[in-house]
Amino acid sequence: NAVPQSPDHASGPTVIGHRGASGYRPEHTLASYELAARMGADYVEPDLVSTKDGVLVARHEPEIGGTTDVSKHPEFADRKTTKMLDGVAVTGWFTTDFTLAELKTLRAVERLPQVRQRNTVYDGRYQIPTFQEIIDLVQRLDRELHRDIGIYPETKHPTFFKNLGLGTDQKLVDTLNRNGLNRRGAKVYVQSFEVGNLKALHRQLRVPLIQLTEATGQPYDFTVSGDKRTWADITSAAGLREVATYAQGIGPDKNQVIPRDATDHLGKPTSLVKDAHAARLKVHPYTFRPENVFLPADFRSSADPTAYGNLFGEIETYL
Ligand code: G3P
Ligand code: CA
Repeated sequence: NAVPQSPDHASGPTVIGHRGASGYRPEHTLASYELAARMGADYVEPDLVSTKDGVLVARHEPEIGGTTDVSKHPEFADRKTTKMLDGVAVTGWFTTDFTLAELKTLRAVERLPQVRQRNTVYDGRYQIPTFQEIIDLVQRLDRELHRDIGIYPETKHPTFFKNLGLGTDQKLVDTLNRNGLNRRGAKVYVQSFEVGNLKALHRQLRVPLIQLTEATGQPYDFTVSGDKRTWADITSAAGLREVATYAQGIGPDKNQVIPRDATDHLGKPTSLVKDAHAARLKVHPYTFRPENVFLPADFRSSADPTAYGNLFGEIETYL
């Protein structure tokens, strides 16, 4: 049951450009991914969602009101709708109501303008990229930069898309196959929060899988699978042993693992890293950036620019 050999560094942390270099360009744009690669990231991380015509594109969520200029397009005013997303009513514009051609008329905007004000100068410049365009970019940069830049896609809300007849699994598998990336040794990880999704992908993919986890006491996805376990169950020593039957690592919220002697959401000492390693799982925590941590009000003027590690770079370092 050895963990498959990964193409990571022999030593030191693996660095993932979370949604690209999202501290410097609007997230999930080709500009963001390219900058992450040029900054030295080992991987770029696209969140994958489906269009109405079944194309995989990169957006943090299926709802795109906050990450694009769609609200400024009068021709799409009547596409605003409310949908149930994993048990929560969400109002806005959903990728599932737009063809790829329609989405390409939109432009990305900074999702967190209060936090990343510097990014707002790029609002309106970049299109929503397809997964294939991201792969093409990475392969072009491989040749230019003479190194193998990895791709670390996340299947976002896969059951939501499946229930709409727009399942993303087969498209992901097909795209990786078509690009010669569904093979051992390819610099690819596939990650998801949904256990059932990863178990299904495990049967079709030869690249390592990562089980994402959350630092909450909630059932992990009670609205989509009927699984009554909590995240605490899934990250228990026994839960991790089960994860190891279909995945090669976990992707915990960093608050579950840092500092090593931190307490988890239940207020108990956490042994997550130790337990995961005992189950022969890699540990790839997310995400080192300002909106996920408690920063002092004056963090922008901190005298010590290194005080928060590389938080401002928004480059995700994986343990
Ligand atoms: O890489 C894990 C992380 O990306 C999951 O959370 O919301 O940033 O996609 P999110
Ligand atoms: Ca993600």
